[in-house]
Amino acid sequence: MQTIHDFLLCETPDDWISSALKHPDLLLIDHANCEKKAASTALNLMYRYVDNFELLNKMSRLAREELRHFEQVIAFMEKRGIAYSQETAARYAAELRKPVRTSEPGRLIDTLIVGAIIEARSCERFEKLAPHLDEELKTFYLSLLKSESRHFRDYLTLAKKAAGDADINDRVNLFLVREKQLVESADIEFRFHSGVPS
Ligand SMILES: [Fe+2]
Ligand SMILES: [Fe+2]
Repeated sequence: MQTIHDFLLCETPDDWISSALKHPDLLLIDHANCEKKAASTALNLMYRYVDNFELLNKMSRLAREELRHFEQVIAFMEKRGIAYSQETAARYAAELRKPVRTSEPGRLIDTLIVGAIIEARSCERFEKLAPHLDEELKTFYLSLLKSESRHFRDYLTLAKKAAGDADINDRVNLFLVREKQLVESADIEFRFHSGVPS
């Protein structure tokens, strides 16, 4: 976890944690959506970059794990009588992806960097939320840290390899600065990756 704390530029604000505790149903609904989205992002990469066996293997395993997490989240929802309603996506991922370059290999490198950041933030939020949750959810959230932190490392490793000898620090930093701004600024709706409640 230390690597993840060192990587991200800021911690999740306490106000977001308070907001999450006030929206327990929405937290699980949006969490389910995030797992589903994470699997589909990985599948999209598998369609686009068929020439990269390392990427295909890592993304295939990642997609399976995210779908397994999805099943675990909806099992909690079902058990707790939470209806799965359609909710709009958070601004987070769409805003974070805006600077992704449109030509290769920049497009792949940036997409993988964004993937690493989203995994790192998810991990950080699971860990920070866990002590505030009931025993059952707490155990579940802590159980996710291991796979989500590996997803973070896999994305970052793939990004470095996609760049060959080129240094990706400037790109990583550009996205991290943007991410910090999204996490720390006021947001009109509560979501798993939302900013501070306004
Ligand atoms: Fe996941
Ligand atoms: Fe993940």
